[in-house]
Amino acid sequence: MDKSLQVILQTFEGKKEEIIPILQNVQDAYSYIPERSMTDIALFTGVPESQVYGVATFYAQFRFTPRGKKHCMVCRGTACHVNGAPRILEEMEEALGIKQGETSEDLEYSLETVACIGACSLAPAIMVNDTVEAKLDPKKVRKLFGRVVANE
Ligand code: FES
Repeated sequence: MDKSLQVILQTFEGKKEEIIPILQNVQDAYSYIPERSMTDIALFTGVPESQVYGVATFYAQFRFTPRGKKHCMVCRGTACHVNGAPRILEEMEEALGIKQGETSEDLEYSLETVACIGACSLAPAIMVNDTVEAKLDPKKVRKLFGRVVANE
């Protein structure tokens, strides 16, 4: 078991009802739920691994792939949707070479869609880590992620 997971588990008692908070802590530490951690969580809580896996996959909050250094969140809220978010997502998928829910092989970028990011008056908007990129159009997306395109 790796050290970080050990430290996390030490803060719990090993009860079945702790599975969700344990998973949340693991995700905070690793940015996703590594598959190997489920075996350790199962042993720690005395719950079959299939059940830990079942809990983890039931909740949309849990991710099973690592985030990229630049985690891109495309807003799919109403204001963004009507202002062209689907086209923005398409453009980003093309620029980054990954589909939503994926992480680039070099772990540089990950891409997901999220509900409203609170910048509706600036729609369509995305967030790259903590930075909002607003009033986007396909050209701005290409400019923002031009480095990736240029390297292809
Ligand atoms: S709907 Fe996209 S920021 Fe609110």
